[in-house]
Amino acid sequence: KRHFLSVTDLNEVEVSNLLDLADGFVALNRQTSKKLDLLKGRTLMNLFFENSTRTQSSFELAGKRLGADVVNMSPRSSSISKGETLIDTAVTLNAMQPDLLVVRHSSSGAASLLSQKVTCSVVNAGDGQHEHPTQALLDALSMRRAFGRIAGLSVAICGDILHSRVARSNVALLQMLGAEVRLVGPPTLIPSQADRWGAAVHHDMRKGIAGCDVVMMLRLQLERMDGVMAPSQREYFRFFGLDREKLAYAAPNAKVMHPGPMNRGVEIDSDVADDLSVSLIQDQVEMGVAARMAVLTALAARLDNA
Ligand code: CP
Repeated sequence: KRHFLSVTDLNEVEVSNLLDLADGFVALNRQTSKKLDLLKGRTLMNLFFENSTRTQSSFELAGKRLGADVVNMSPRSSSISKGETLIDTAVTLNAMQPDLLVVRHSSSGAASLLSQKVTCSVVNAGDGQHEHPTQALLDALSMRRAFGRIAGLSVAICGDILHSRVARSNVALLQMLGAEVRLVGPPTLIPSQADRWGAAVHHDMRKGIAGCDVVMMLRLQLERMDGVMAPSQREYFRFFGLDREKLAYAAPNAKVMHPGPMNRGVEIDSDVADDLSVSLIQDQVEMGVAARMAVLTALAARLDNA
């Protein structure tokens, strides 16, 4: 396929190949000289309608390390601030002949909609509550490097599942790769259709993470909740915040993950988040660059063969 909009665009073999490719890029990124020319002559445009620290900067670095020209567009600095629509913005940028358009938008389905209006490849960098496929890839890469495998791992995804595109992409990808996935959170933050995702649902955190290999914490997305729905942050931490006491219920060598940005003291205690013997959070950030380099390389190869 020309685009990467959902983890379901990939099969298990394609995921495995992307993770292998990304592994090689991790080694490259740790060297003094990090530049390749796999995307030389190609143009990558980052079009972020929502804020981002990790995703936007890692796509920019990924493109530059592969030799592409990279342009960053944000609503504040573009004519989006004057009311230009999503489609008009994308069609306008497409007329400048980019090869790759990386899109983040608050509406589910926005990247898919754009992909039907442009001639370049579109990568979904997060669309509303729907999907964040490159996050799932970098999470899988982090787990595979930490445990040497993904099949057979037990992964508890905890917190605000309802508003999380990271959860949706991770459930689909981890199940494709043979992991057991559990969803842990208060009933108000678990989607009603979650029982159809093939993951056990737990409302008691200690039971939900019991014996699991990975505890993946999610941010409480207060910006997507109205005032009535938002839980008291202190009470939320008491029942669903990850601290040492709750982590002790997981497997002895369990790892802690969080896609970021973190709400310290709300869904995760700093004591756990900053303990490098259990936390993969910084590894996830590093893997983000490598995983996105792999995705861009694979898409560019498709363009070359088109
Ligand atoms: N994990 C993630 O998508 O982070 P950003 O919002 O900073 O890109």
